[in-house]
Order: sequence, then C-alpha cells, then structure tokens
Amino acid sequence: MERIAFFDTKPYDREHFDKLNRSFDIHYFEDKLSPETAALADGCRAVCAFVNDCLDSRVIEELVKRGVKLLLMRCAGYNNIDLKYASGKLTILRVPAYSPYAVAEHAMALILLLNRKIHKSYLRTRDYNFSINGLTGFDLHGKTAGVIGTGKIGQVFIDICKGFGMSVLAYDPFPNEKAAAEKGFEYTDKDRLFSESDIISLHCPLTKNTRYIIDEDSLRKMKSTAYIVNTSRGKLIDSEALLRALREKRIAAAGLDVYEEETDVFYEDRSGDIIDDETLSLLISMPNVIITSHQAFLTEEALNAIAQVTLSNAEEFFSGTEKFTNEVVYGM
Ligand code: NAI
Repeated sequence: MERIAFFDTKPYDREHFDKLNRSFDIHYFEDKLSPETAALADGCRAVCAFVNDCLDSRVIEELVKRGVKLLLMRCAGYNNIDLKYASGKLTILRVPAYSPYAVAEHAMALILLLNRKIHKSYLRTRDYNFSINGLTGFDLHGKTAGVIGTGKIGQVFIDICKGFGMSVLAYDPFPNEKAAAEKGFEYTDKDRLFSESDIISLHCPLTKNTRYIIDEDSLRKMKSTAYIVNTSRGKLIDSEALLRALREKRIAAAGLDVYEEETDVFYEDRSGDIIDDETLSLLISMPNVIITSHQAFLTEEALNAIAQVTLSNAEEFFSGTEKFTNEVVYGM
C-alpha cells in the first residue's frame, strides 16, 4: 500500500479520511509541515498538507530529497506553496471546491452575530441577565453588500444576501456578467464598492494583486457604519490598518475567520498562553470584532468532500496517468 504522510491533522480530518480510505497507508501527524518536520515524510511518495503548512523552497527541497513526488493539498487555496520552486519537482493536486455553502454561510453567520449581538445575548441570558440595552442592530433588508470575488463562494454569498433583500455590488477582475444578470447584482469598481457598501465580504484568493486589498486607503473610503468580513485569507487585510480604523470608529465592525499571522495560533488551544501578537490581542478585545479560527469550511459535507476528492486525487496520480483533474500549475 502506498504510504502518505498527512501533516497538521486534527481528529475531524482522521474521522473523515478513515471512513473513506481503502487504498492508502495514511500516517497522520499533528505537526505542521516545516523544514524541521519534513523528515516525517521519509518513505512516502506523497504528502498531504493544509492551509497553514509551510511549503517554501526549503521544505519542498527536503521533501523532494526524500523521494516525495506528490503534494496533496486538502484545501482550495495554495498561496502557502512556493509554486515556482515546486514546478517540475512535485505534482500538486488540490480540492478546488468542497462546499462553497459552508464558507458563504459562515460569512453571513459572522454578520448576523455582529449585527444582532447574539454572542452578547447568549452570555447575558446564561447569567439570567435579560436586559437588551446595547443590543440594537439594523435590518439587513434594503442595505448594500459589497462582494469582492464572485467565484463559487462569492456567488453563494450573493444568493444569501439577495435572500435577505439586500442590493449587491461586486468587484472581480474577471466579471461573470451572466451570473450578475441572473442573480441581479451589479459589477462596479473597488472605490464605489468601498464607499457605498454597508457590508463588505472578501471572497477572492490571496495573490500578489489581492494582498492588502483592504488597507489604510481602502478603509478610509468606507462608511463609518460599514462591517467588513473576511473568510478568505488573512493577508487580504492589513490588520494594523483595520485595528486603527476600528479604534478611530472609521468603520463599525469586523468579522474575521482568517488573520494574517494565524499560522502559529489558529487551530491550537492557546488558552493558557500569553499571546504575543498585540494586534490580534487588541482585535479580540474589541466588542465589535468577532474572530473565528479559520473554521468557515468546517461542515460535515465539506469534510466529506475534502476526504473524497483528496483520496481520488491520490488514486489518479498513482494510476500512472499524466493528466490530472485538480492540478495546480505554476502560472495558472
Ligand atoms: P473561486 O476561484 O471560485 O473564486 C475566486 C474569485 O476571485 C474568482 O471569480 C476570481 O476571478 C476572483 N478574483 C481573482 N483576483 C481577484 C482580485 N484581484 N479582486 C477580486 N476578485 C478576484 O474561489 P472560491 O472557491 O470562491 O474561494 C475563494 C477563496 O475562499 C479561496 O481562494 C480561499 O482563499 C478562501 N477559502 C476559505 C475557506 C475558509 O475555511 N475560511 C475555505 C475555502 C476557501
């Protein structure tokens, strides 16, 4: 049986992969992939990694030296891989879509929580405090959502917003005019989206063009009542600029499922530690910020699809074919 080293695994990964796996000898490691842990892949021609594993040139070199030929990403994003360096050395297969609903629904959950302050109500009523002072929200109906990136997740999020009776402005360098006509949303430029939206939700990948798409300049264009939601990748937002905008009340609230320095913190129980990331600590301390730990994908349906597609990617590779359904290629 072909042996595969799985990095950065949690009990929910194991449960879903073990349920479906018939063909591979899977070795699960809790450690993230890094130059120090790459040796765990000894004896494997394939490794499987996730969003916060390090796949820089040093790690790729270590893996290749050990005979690894296949990198299975059990996620959609691949911004953590040095693709240029990996080109010609490793075949990289990913899971391009597992549940756009999971992520889009989580984005709306963050908005509803922030707006209707459900997290505060929950804590109050658990303490028999039935006061509703300070919990006033606003109707989403009739408001404007600004959606950046109108691919699979962005489009589901647009459907959800339309279901709430919102208008939708969208920005995407590759507009899908057919979807816009069918769903009833409007493409516009970033400036108008920033200045007219009541809620801004990010659904684009992290690339050199989208890094810090939300920065000091864009935050200054937003309404002081605007909410910003990021379920895509942390580095889409300059967190220090976001913190400043929130402190100076230049925007109203932020819901973050991802954070630019999340790698050493998210997915770990750090409740007994002093977190030395001041920006993260200050964001967490704010009453109008909700942070979840990169969990937007975490539904049964998504985990099942991730396991199924990752295993069939591995089967395809080891079948000897040279054309792969879900290959990530440098420059694509
Ligand atoms: P997709 O590939 O279907 O859509 C991405 C869209 O972004 C495309 O329409 C593309 O044209 C657009 N885009 C590219 N460059 C852009 C730019 N400069 N400005 C605005 N839009 C741009 O991807 P999908 O499946 O919708 O996923 C979106 C992102 O969500 C992923 O790249 C990933 O980072 C994130 N994600 C987060 C998860 C979580 O658990 N928090 C889980 C899954 C994905």
